[in-house]
Amino acid sequence: MTTTQAAPARTGAHRPAAAAAAPVRRRPSDFACKQVMAVTGLVFGVFVLVHMLGNLKAYLGRQGFDSYAVWLRHLLEPVVPYSGVLWVLRAVLLACLVGHVGCAYLLWRRARIARGPFRRKGLPLRSFGARTMPVTGVVLLLFIIFHILDLTTGTRPVASAEYTPMTATRSFAYDNLVHSFDRPWVSAFYIAAMLLLGLHLSHGLWLAVNDLGATGHRLRQVSVALAGIVAVAVMVGNISLPVAVLTGVVS
Ligand code: HEM
Repeated sequence: MTTTQAAPARTGAHRPAAAAAAPVRRRPSDFACKQVMAVTGLVFGVFVLVHMLGNLKAYLGRQGFDSYAVWLRHLLEPVVPYSGVLWVLRAVLLACLVGHVGCAYLLWRRARIARGPFRRKGLPLRSFGARTMPVTGVVLLLFIIFHILDLTTGTRPVASAEYTPMTATRSFAYDNLVHSFDRPWVSAFYIAAMLLLGLHLSHGLWLAVNDLGATGHRLRQVSVALAGIVAVAVMVGNISLPVAVLTGVVS
């Protein structure tokens, strides 16, 4: 039995053949969902790269790392109030997260319904990154929640018992980071999450460029290479921090 014959039987509808064959209009369309995912995915790509470079400031010591956190809050003052730029960035990131996760869910659900009981078999190993996107995406979502409770809001028991909230003039970001990564299970979770982030980014970034229309052979080669470089840089840079704390290089 073919997929088209199976559809009316699943829904139980008895429609005329012409009506049954009419194209289904979905809102938002699959195309719109893919574009939203591509744009928000690129925003996240830029964010994690810049965030990783900021994290590396931990190697400059307590002073360098803490003053970076304070500087971020005083950005564009007095034109913008204290923490104003940070709140705009938070709002943009949250909107991107809602769009990215929402569209990912819609596309995943539609694909599942369209596929019915059939499963693709014998896929090549190089499609591993593509096939694991929903799983790595969900783990990263859980990681982001954990990470904010751990280092931004200082919510226990996720945050360490020594977590100290920042004031308008002083940040304790460095000490909070060290206390958090001093817990081996937390460091292990961060390392595992960063490995998955590398996998998610390396596939997601070139897919985003592709979905935005850069489909030429040369551009495809360049975007695959760039996505790989950014993914590995973010992964290695971030993983180095829990490793540095556990080995006492950062303490
Ligand atoms: C080992 C890797 C990471 C380290 C060491 C790290 C470190 C930090 C630190 C210290 C803060 C607090 C900054 C402050 O208070 O000014 C922070 C906040 C944050 N991080 Fe990370 N981060 C890592 C990975 C990530 C990743 C992969 C993401 C995104 C997928 C991410 C997203 C965020 C967000 C959204 C915030 C909250 C910013 C805010 O609203 O104040 N981080 N991170």
